[in-house]
Amino acid sequence: MSDTIVLYVIDRKGEKHTINAEVGKTLKDVIIREIEMDHFGDCGGCCACATCHVYIESTSKWAVNGFGQDEKDMLEMAEGVTDESRLGCQIQVNPEMDGMTITVAQDL
Ligand code: FES
Repeated sequence: MSDTIVLYVIDRKGEKHTINAEVGKTLKDVIIREIEMDHFGDCGGCCACATCHVYIESTSKWAVNGFGQDEKDMLEMAEGVTDESRLGCQIQVNPEMDGMTITVAQDL
């Protein structure tokens, strides 16, 4: 079994990137490694900035690990939050996510 999956990430300019993502890394880390963006993952992944705000399509949400309370609290302070909102630093890449499309929220 491969420990790398493919993710499709739409950046803040609307450009779609194909990313090879290592299982077990955070979504924030794999996005930072592949896409150059200002103000993304600014707190380093300690759930204190919400700059890693992403949208997970509702049809794919089943594949992503659940919310923690810290993440819910942090998202309450973020802009542009929808039912598809998550924080990339709180999602661990897993094999079920293979082929998923993730959209990075605008830097508001
Ligand atoms: Fe700061 Fe995710 S990197 S909340």
